[in-house]
Amino acid sequence: MTFRDPLQDDRGNNDVTVARPGGTGLHVADNRGTVPSAGVAQAFLVGEGMAGGYGKGANILNGCTIAAEKGQIAVIVGPNGAGKSTAMKAIFGMLDLRQGSIRLNGEDITRLTPQARVAKGMAFVPQVRNIFPSMSVEENLEMGAFLRRDDISSTIEQIYTLFPILKTKRRQPAGELSGGQRQQVAVGRALMTRPSVLMLDEPTAGVSPIVMDELFDRIIEIARQGITILMVEQNARQALEIADRGYVLVQGANAFTGTGKELLADPQVRKSFLGG
Ligand SMILES: Nc1ncnc2c1ncn2[C@@H]1O[C@H](COP(=O)(O)OP(=O)(O)OP(=O)(O)O)[C@@H](O)[C@H]1O
Ligand SMILES: [Mg+2]
Repeated sequence: MTFRDPLQDDRGNNDVTVARPGGTGLHVADNRGTVPSAGVAQAFLVGEGMAGGYGKGANILNGCTIAAEKGQIAVIVGPNGAGKSTAMKAIFGMLDLRQGSIRLNGEDITRLTPQARVAKGMAFVPQVRNIFPSMSVEENLEMGAFLRRDDISSTIEQIYTLFPILKTKRRQPAGELSGGQRQQVAVGRALMTRPSVLMLDEPTAGVSPIVMDELFDRIIEIARQGITILMVEQNARQALEIADRGYVLVQGANAFTGTGKELLADPQVRKSFLGG
């Protein structure tokens, strides 16, 4: 599809539930908004009207808007290939946008490199290859702190408090750990920079329901410390249960947006995306 500037024409975000913090009800985005809404502009992390693709290829993101409030959990769900990971990469600066912008705490960071975004407080756990398997658990955590010049030992202890099993296995190669434990390493590594925003792409992929519940509990704990969570999840139902805000992404556009509860209660969302 061709893409026009969402700020100049009839495209872009028209999501009233994003537009008004505490806005009521579920809204099916119809992409006919004319101005960026105040609520979106003020959110702690905003990817607004994002359009872009890989190389010279067609757009994968078609004007979607994703926002996360400070200390809250925002969850992106949607079918395979919808562009969820691509949206995460765009927000983290791994994909150049053709349209739209990224803002963090009121600052436009659209042009910043991923490294510069890390320095601004962003951390990203990608969907694949998110640990160094041959390195020990503790070395993985140390690698996460590569930008820091101060003493990191207290942060490592905090991560061991959050994930006690990692302390037990600190000397073991991370690749030898179970799937759930490896995800703990990945999350722990990301936390080593003491981020204000933690982005997680399918943190519970391939783990059992019990391990998933445990990971979600830890993620809630992280958010309670004031860290903003933006998470993509395949386990849509469970993820929306802990989500302050949920986004259903379809073909790189907002299909449904609401609080987690609203999306879970919406018959259309249930039927199409939550298995009834
Ligand atoms: N590096 C890449 N180069 C070219 N095309 C890509 C690349 N990564 C993803 N794509 C394409 O972009 C589209 C969206 O992929 P993306 O990985 O963002 O989807 P997703 O919603 O995260 O899917 P999944 O649920 O399977 O993780 C797909 O058509 C995919 O083939
Ligand atoms: Mg993905």
